[in-house]
Amino acid sequence: MPILEWLNKGEAIKTADRVPYRLLQADSELSYGEPNGNMLIKGDNLEALKALLPYYKGQVKCIYIDPPYNTGSAFEKYDDNLEHSTWLSLLYPRLELLRELLNENGLILISIDDREHAYLKVICDEIFGRSNFVCTFIWEARSGQGNTIGHIAENHEYILCYAKNIQEVSFKKITNVANKGNYSDEKGSYKREQLRQWGQGDRREDRPTMYYAVTAPSGEEIYPFRPDNTDGRWRVSKAKMDELIANNDVDFVKDENGRWLLYKKIRDGRVTYSAHGTLLTKIGTASTATIELKELFLGIKIFDTPKPEVLIQHLLNLVTNENDLVLDSFLGSGTTAAVAHKMNRHYIGIEMGEHAITTSIPRLKAVIDGEQGGISKAVNWQGGGGFTFYDLGETVFDENGNINPKVDFKTLASHIWFVETKTPLLQCEKSPLLGVHNETAYYLLYNGILGDKKVDGGNVLTSKIYEALPNPKEPFSGKKIIYGEASRLSSAKLKELNITFKQTPYDVKAR
Ligand SMILES: C[S@@+](CC[C@H](N)C(=O)[O-])C[C@H]1O[C@@H](n2cnc3c(N)ncnc32)[C@H](O)[C@@H]1O
Repeated sequence: MPILEWLNKGEAIKTADRVPYRLLQADSELSYGEPNGNMLIKGDNLEALKALLPYYKGQVKCIYIDPPYNTGSAFEKYDDNLEHSTWLSLLYPRLELLRELLNENGLILISIDDREHAYLKVICDEIFGRSNFVCTFIWEARSGQGNTIGHIAENHEYILCYAKNIQEVSFKKITNVANKGNYSDEKGSYKREQLRQWGQGDRREDRPTMYYAVTAPSGEEIYPFRPDNTDGRWRVSKAKMDELIANNDVDFVKDENGRWLLYKKIRDGRVTYSAHGTLLTKIGTASTATIELKELFLGIKIFDTPKPEVLIQHLLNLVTNENDLVLDSFLGSGTTAAVAHKMNRHYIGIEMGEHAITTSIPRLKAVIDGEQGGISKAVNWQGGGGFTFYDLGETVFDENGNINPKVDFKTLASHIWFVETKTPLLQCEKSPLLGVHNETAYYLLYNGILGDKKVDGGNVLTSKIYEALPNPKEPFSGKKIIYGEASRLSSAKLKELNITFKQTPYDVKAR
């Protein structure tokens, strides 16, 4: 597969692996409402995403990001080659981490404009796999002339869409309820829809089962020819056609040339489903987003590049349901979090700028208090819920590879479980037994977990400590991996008990 090369790509590829694990520190002063798992994180998203991995790998249903578009404003001295490469190197490792956080049935959507769209597509193909490309949405971002690049008014933006695994993702359909029709029979009024498919691309050989004879009320046999008597086929299978005719849901009509046309009756209130389209027009614009945000902040323009709530609602609606987890790692003014909150989705928002505090927090507080802007009325938003605010704290390991003394049991347990099993530790009771994965039980002796009051009490594996360890639920005959500061058991004894001992911190891998 062709791939993109740029200055320092080699470094960009290693970045996600090299970035240290940091602790996430909750700040109760800046949190609001009931703590229900929603997270607002202030910090560089590279480190924040890495910090989330041990807890949320494979858990996120939908990611929306709206990264800076590389408009040349980020650097004092604009050098296209340097800036272009820097931008790609910024995105690449973050997309790799985002991919790891996505659930197998999850979807990622990325806003972008014309400058980098083609390049972003190529690196996304590399990271997510070309076969997982879903589509590029085109959003009408400006209804008027828009920003003029050269001689052309740019009034659209793109939203690139990839599945984690195209086989697993399940897209919702648009529900259409038929309006009152111009025709009627004993069952009521209805509209008509042609049952013959005769476009140039509708070749009979592609769907041979859709070509068959239907018997007209006169007894004649009707075939779905095109007007020029060549190709053509029915829209439905023979079985479906028979069912429609039996239910009196087909109109047989002769055209001016005396040829039979068949119409399906679409009755009032009848619900049909269709796939979402790629063209997103009349789904808010950049200026409706600005107005939306201004209304929340007493008419003051507080943030330059927000997205309208209705656009994010449309995107989240493609695959998510209530209680699914949504992530935005370029949160900006907090639109994705606000919309996810109103749609009863869980969310994680990451933003490194001060506006995480000056804009996202007050916006989400207003949402929790029941503000009625954006999509509130459409979803009948009444307020409620909450979020917890986090800063990025210290690294889990210091530069010598020792465990940071500020790391508590739960944090180290989540980390060890994650590096051993590549799955997040969803529940961590205060127990040295972290869990069983693939016939292996994992234990951690740390911070006196067995109740010993001494600082390092219970962190050394002795016969007594071994006796005190809880056993996995029966039946269990697998291996035990035990992490601790030291082991006093002989290698023969470890072998007899089917234990692999791993020493903290040396055997705790960073990834
Ligand atoms: C285009 S704005 C997003 C706007 C957002 N969609 C909204 O509706 O408000 C991009 C945001 O990404 C943030 N950002 C850029 N680089 C970042 C990084 N490395 N980590 C976290 N946030 C970052 C910027 O501070 C900016 O707020």
